[in-house]
Amino acid sequence: PLVSMRQLLDHAAENGYGLPAFNVNNLEQVQAIMEAASETDSPVIMQASAGARKYAGEAFLRHLIDAAVEAYPHIPVVMHQDHGQSPAICMAAMRSGFSSVMMDGSLMEDGKTPSSYEYNVDVSRKVVEMAHSIGVTVEAELGCLGSLETGMAGEEDGIGAEGVLDHSALLTDPDQAADFVKQTDCDALAIAIGTSHGAYKFTRKPTGDILAIDRIKAIHQRLPNTHLVMHGSSSVPQELLEIIRQYGGDMKETYGVPVEEIVEGIKYGVRKINIDTDIRLAMTGAIRKFLAENPSKFDPREYNKPAREAAKQVCKARYEAFGCAGQA
Ligand code: G3H
Ligand code: 13P
Ligand code: NA
Ligand code: ZN
Repeated sequence: PLVSMRQLLDHAAENGYGLPAFNVNNLEQVQAIMEAASETDSPVIMQASAGARKYAGEAFLRHLIDAAVEAYPHIPVVMHQDHGQSPAICMAAMRSGFSSVMMDGSLMEDGKTPSSYEYNVDVSRKVVEMAHSIGVTVEAELGCLGSLETGMAGEEDGIGAEGVLDHSALLTDPDQAADFVKQTDCDALAIAIGTSHGAYKFTRKPTGDILAIDRIKAIHQRLPNTHLVMHGSSSVPQELLEIIRQYGGDMKETYGVPVEEIVEGIKYGVRKINIDTDIRLAMTGAIRKFLAENPSKFDPREYNKPAREAAKQVCKARYEAFGCAGQA
């Protein structure tokens, strides 16, 4: 069934595990996530970005998720709006049946300009008021995602601040977080700890100076009952980069968020872990490999099948690592 995200996050907190939240844009991604969830008996959070809406269209996204719910009646599924840039976008998502929305007030409506604290409180509280009256969960964000190495917000997906960010904006302040949650009554809080969207997060395997897991602990200490959300949490596995390179792709040296660091965060209140890039890497590697090995094939089903399978393996590994397996 379609469930509210709050319900899943509360269960995860009570039982000490984390839920991967996978971005979806098309049929094969939805199928991969549901097959992985079914095989590991995991509850599901699927999320759609503004880019997903633009690519697939609102109706197709909604019906793909409806189809997932219908095909897997035993699995609880959340349909979440990722990075809603305004109360109006969150409203539209609620009207279209999403059971959870993110009001990302850390940036202005352009999705690029860092906002003031007051603006963020104001829009987040507004969305909470609307959403809670109809049982929809709200994720808000405090702090800007971005690299502690460069101050940049990350790249290719267009979600993130423009230009070089102030170091203090890149790490969520625990005292401010406590005030923010009190003022907005959000259900879940996305925090900035040095991660960024996309494949190019870190130039080396991250250590505490560029991936601030300690900051999670400090925030959790102030907000022991708030569900924390990690964005930009793809692990960018080296073996997936290698497959892409081996079959003609061009991927520069890069590192993601190690699974074991996420597992450490889960001990300190992280309940939702956003993952998009790892699925993209897995699918692209599989398609490149298939087409390179089968140059005469042209039926999309033939290359989408290994792509779906590769995505499924990523999802299963995260369900298992985060303790989500067996919790559906
Ligand atoms: O929030 C970032 C996700 O990876 C979504 O990316 O805007 O390209 O769909 P997107
Ligand atoms: P990745 O780019 O690390 O997969 O992050 C996705 C994300 O945070 C979506 O909101
Ligand atoms: Na989100
Ligand atoms: Zn994100």
